[in-house]
Amino acid sequence: MNVIIVGFGFIGRKLVRAFYKKIDLIRNVDASFKVIGVSDSKGYLYDSKGLDLERLSYVKRLSEYSGKYREGGSTEEIIEKGEADLMVEATPTNINDGEPGLSFIKAALKKGIHVVTSNKGPLVVAFKELTSLAEKNDCLLLYEGTVAGAVPVFSLVRKCLQGDIIRRIVGILNGTTNYILSRMYFEGTSFELALKEARERGLTERDPSYDVDGIDAACKAVILANALMNRNVKFEDVKRTGIRRVTQEAISLAKKSKFAIKLISTIDKHIEVSPKLVPINHPLCVHGTLNAIHIETDLAREITLIGHGAGEETVSAVLNDVLTVMKETASPI
Ligand SMILES: NC(=O)c1ccc[n+]([C@@H]2O[C@H](COP(=O)([O-])OP(=O)(O)OC[C@H]3O[C@@H](n4cnc5c(N)ncnc54)[C@H](OP(=O)(O)O)[C@@H]3O)[C@@H](O)[C@H]2O)c1
Repeated sequence: MNVIIVGFGFIGRKLVRAFYKKIDLIRNVDASFKVIGVSDSKGYLYDSKGLDLERLSYVKRLSEYSGKYREGGSTEEIIEKGEADLMVEATPTNINDGEPGLSFIKAALKKGIHVVTSNKGPLVVAFKELTSLAEKNDCLLLYEGTVAGAVPVFSLVRKCLQGDIIRRIVGILNGTTNYILSRMYFEGTSFELALKEARERGLTERDPSYDVDGIDAACKAVILANALMNRNVKFEDVKRTGIRRVTQEAISLAKKSKFAIKLISTIDKHIEVSPKLVPINHPLCVHGTLNAIHIETDLAREITLIGHGAGEETVSAVLNDVLTVMKETASPI
């Protein structure tokens, strides 16, 4: 399988490193696996014989790899070459129009290239359009890394709950707000100080309102609703309240009654993101930057997944999606 990686930032670089470290495991699944192209915002590297993963995993910028870097070249060009079987898309999230990722994903699917993405933007803006395009072109479109980082919610439902109807999903889908609320709960910190610390630790988005006003959690709720509950909802359909007005007094009062205040995304008839009281012994009541997803179904009844919602751990989800594409598209011997 010939792979191209679009975006060589945090996720793109960590993925290359994971490919290099786990090359034996990967080649056991697909002996012909190679990365033939990688692009960033300024250009790309391309070699149809395969790039050197060891060298690539030690460079910070693509231009440091070799003279092969084609500055000014675009991602569209490497998609158009038509030699890739799979594109991993990891460009910045843009929930206004999904770009640039949306155009890249559409171009790849139209060309019959399978897609794995960690980018919420295109899925929030055009979920149905993209899944229909993938189906029409007989391609897989996998996006495990877009919601709750390393927590394998889509794979679990797709593989293990095929006969269940998902009735309701409730989750803590934003690690930054969970960190802030946990600091307020355990250390009596004010919201302002906890937010400042989160920023200093690099936990917030560039614009922290994405986290604290529930925008990021709402995007993830939209993806979960569309992917797992067969809905066709948009960001505007989410009723949203962030955590700016959660006071230390409210948290202390809740604590006395054995509750914590958490930013909860609820997907049932309606979709809502808002601070809610959660009993401290409920499986959803996780702290720090952890994420949790509680799924209610007709047969299994209740399942809760807990894990790391962002950071290096997300590469686990992206790599697993890549292996899934390899396994599901392998031709029978
Ligand atoms: N970081 C995490 O923990 C995490 C977790 C889950 C999901 N995600 C999502 O995964 C995606 C990637 O995250 P990240 O942290 O790796 O972001 P990042 O560090 O900002 O990297 C983004 C990469 O995309 C490249 N890029 C921007 N515009 C491009 C274009 N037009 N063509 C080709 N490449 C382009 C950038 O190029 P330059 O290098 O030239 O700027 C950069 O290499 C985002 O959508 C993010 O929300 C991230």
